[in-house]
Amino acid sequence: MTTLAENLRGWIQRSRQRIETVSMAPQLERVGRVLQVGDGVATVSGLPDTRLDELLVFDGGVRGLAVDLGEAAIGCVLLGDAGRISAGSVVHGTGQVARVPVGEGLLGRVVDALGLPMDGGVPVARAALAPVERPAPAIVDRDLVTRPLATGLLVVDAMIPLGRGQRELIIGDRETGKTAIAVDTIINQRSTDVICVYAAIGQKASSVAQVIDAARRYGAPERCLFVVGEANAAPGLQWLTPYAACTMAEHFMTQGRDVLLVLDDLTKHAAVYRQVSLLLRRPPGREAYPGDIFYIHSRLLERAAKLAPDRGGGSLSALPIAETQAGNISAYIPTNLISITDGQIYLDPRLFYEDQKPAVDVGRSVSRVGGKTQAPVLKALAESLRLEYAQFLELEVFTRFGTMVDERTRKTIEHGRRIRAVLGQRQFAPLTLGEQVALLTAVGEGVLDSVPLDRVEAFRATLGSWLADHSPEVAKLDDQAKALPDDLRAHLKASLEALARSLAAPTAEHMGGSEP
Ligand SMILES: Nc1ncnc2c1ncn2[C@@H]1O[C@H](COP(=O)(O)OP(=O)(O)OP(=O)(O)O)[C@@H](O)[C@H]1O
Ligand SMILES: [Mg+2]
Repeated sequence: MTTLAENLRGWIQRSRQRIETVSMAPQLERVGRVLQVGDGVATVSGLPDTRLDELLVFDGGVRGLAVDLGEAAIGCVLLGDAGRISAGSVVHGTGQVARVPVGEGLLGRVVDALGLPMDGGVPVARAALAPVERPAPAIVDRDLVTRPLATGLLVVDAMIPLGRGQRELIIGDRETGKTAIAVDTIINQRSTDVICVYAAIGQKASSVAQVIDAARRYGAPERCLFVVGEANAAPGLQWLTPYAACTMAEHFMTQGRDVLLVLDDLTKHAAVYRQVSLLLRRPPGREAYPGDIFYIHSRLLERAAKLAPDRGGGSLSALPIAETQAGNISAYIPTNLISITDGQIYLDPRLFYEDQKPAVDVGRSVSRVGGKTQAPVLKALAESLRLEYAQFLELEVFTRFGTMVDERTRKTIEHGRRIRAVLGQRQFAPLTLGEQVALLTAVGEGVLDSVPLDRVEAFRATLGSWLADHSPEVAKLDDQAKALPDDLRAHLKASLEALARSLAAPTAEHMGGSEP
């Protein structure tokens, strides 16, 4: 039986051991004071050793980033509610740059730019912390972009193909379906192993909720991560969102995975940066943006890469989004972004109002990298499509003035209208490679010319199940598939003709659910 004295002796010994391990030496703490605070920024004095992008902690726990280092004062963007900070309150330097949690625990979650949960769930289980700003992979660590990133949208996959590791700008006016293209691409990754990270910057909470809902309903939400800096979040948080999202995405890339990063959108990001810069009294440049506006976007997008095999071979593809005013793609921020990225998908408001959706203007859209990655079977079919379509668009304008046209021209126009109809697509209905090949074959071989325009949608809706039943080889095509051999092509054509006939005289068996 132990006595009280023994108990006490043991306790004293343990306490001594514990005290010995505690450092009693004086510790240096860097403390400054707030000079001014308001509108999401603060000026701080008394922290002369602060580094650029260092995390500062204010009284009450609100954090801030040092973004402007002056001799007498430091400009700081706040990453939280400024309500609890006032002039004179204490600021602590941390000596650390801002870091966010990374790892598998983030998948399926909605978090803010600091990795704090926004979905009401438990704190994020993190594998590690990684800095939000990091140098981009060096050239020797990179490899060529070789695998396609299928969007499931025929107009993009056929005419503006994307590769894994590419940066493609989605650009267009307000409400022209920019987000819709990115969301459809995310949804299409349900049939691949690509991890999707969606960063919402300065968006309304309702728009973000719609995106999350669509991805959860139609996509593979367990492989998606949403990093949200809503319009009503602190400007600093909105500003940090794309960098934090990029760091979270990069982690998967370094593990050899393929990742898609959507940045929705960088025009709002630039506006937030301009706002905080002006409040911090940095000199305004063109369109009142600070001089380093190009650099803040280029250092972000340069982090998209395809890594070399000895670096794990992962990839990070970026789909930044930019908004234009009245179709002006030569404005400051759009031209910056166009020159940083490997191409752009331009959305035309006129096409959108004419109900041609996705409203991709094929003539003004390019992809400078992805062409080499396009599945050969699709490439063979898509080669002549762009030209045929462009010729049709010109002819159509010409005949709009009521010009009498001969039979051949009329046929070309009718054929062009079928091309346009197959390039349109509903939301949340990505097409498989097999379906895309079949659709392009149907247009190319003139099968659709006999189908009334308003039945093309029904043709597309039925195609998936029809192919599975009648052309299983085509339904199962993959990225590596070579151009269709003649016999398979003939067989596919015959099968598509049968489908076209069945639509001309509809039977209950082949009608989509939405058909009258
Ligand atoms: N392919 C499509 N088919 C039918 N409707 C579509 C299609 N693409 C987009 N839409 C609709 O068009 C509207 C605008 O789309 P979206 O929100 O993607 O545009 P946006 O350019 O991102 O707009 P914002 O400038 O507000 O961000 C939405 O209501 C969306 O449902
Ligand atoms: Mg949008």
